[in-house]
Amino acid sequence: MEFKHIPIMLNEVIENLNIKPDGTYVDGTLGGAGHSSEIVKKLSKDGLLIGIDRDQDALNASHERLKEYDNVRYIWGKHEDIKSILQGLGIKSVDGILLDLGVSSYQLDEESRGFSYMKDSMLDMRMDKTQSITAETIINEYSQKQLEDIFFKYGEENNSKKIASKIVKERQDNRIETTKQLRELIKQVDSKNEIDSCKRIFQALRIEVNGELKDLEKAINDCIELLNDKGRLCIITFHSLEDRIVKTAFNNAQGKCTCPKDFPVCVCGAKSFGKVITRKPIVPSDEEMKTNSRSKSSKLRVFERRF
Ligand SMILES: C[S@@+](CC[C@H](N)C(=O)[O-])C[C@H]1O[C@@H](n2cnc3c(N)ncnc32)[C@H](O)[C@@H]1O
Repeated sequence: MEFKHIPIMLNEVIENLNIKPDGTYVDGTLGGAGHSSEIVKKLSKDGLLIGIDRDQDALNASHERLKEYDNVRYIWGKHEDIKSILQGLGIKSVDGILLDLGVSSYQLDEESRGFSYMKDSMLDMRMDKTQSITAETIINEYSQKQLEDIFFKYGEENNSKKIASKIVKERQDNRIETTKQLRELIKQVDSKNEIDSCKRIFQALRIEVNGELKDLEKAINDCIELLNDKGRLCIITFHSLEDRIVKTAFNNAQGKCTCPKDFPVCVCGAKSFGKVITRKPIVPSDEEMKTNSRSKSSKLRVFERRF
């Protein structure tokens, strides 16, 4: 299947990365190189782009798309490991980093990847196909309480308890292996809101399968530490759980004091690594939201390192 993905807020990202032709940049969520193909155009021969993705399909597609450029390194890995990845390349610091979080349209649309409730496929949802835990493992092996918790925490689903109970009852007789089976169970709990519930439950499962929020704060802090003076970190999020983590991490990195207001001096040890550029997140234009519905929930936040 062709790798189709429209980059979100492309101009806004490029503008905010403040690209220097000879600089070193990291795309920590390379995907189909939608953003990276513009980043690399702005680099001279002495500039360098490092593209990281945990999905080998994405790396293959990007490699093909960017084959005319010699100054791109492709790394199969997680951006949570950015420190060791850069160390392995002998790079101490960089001029800009992009994290465009979540899944690509390709991953959602490719039936065999099992991300979508709109298709009938095996429950998979792994970004890294070598990982052992799939959505099927979680649905069939997590306890009722564990399922309820992830549906509530990562999907903010009000019927978490009922849906978890339905799943546990069903799997006593039949293993739940497909997206269609799961969708049918969700529908049985609340047929009027089937699609919205499916969206929330499938999002929750995807986050759990890929540990999407687990190390996000650490990844952000590591990215900020690796930036050169005036280097920028741009992060695009797609739901409130991610956005909250980014907003808090950026505020903390700015050195926002967390002491109670009545303390005469700061004792929390807040330290500033730079400045939040986007006091309010940047959102897509009306035009972009109209032409790319996937962009609707996206938010871009930008942090600038200052020494
Ligand atoms: C929204 S897509 C990026 C699309 C890309 N910006 C473009 O325009 O083509 C997110 C990509 O990040 C990858 N990804 C998600 N979490 C990751 C992580 N923790 N480390 C590395 N890659 C990750 C996914 O596999 C997916 O290919």
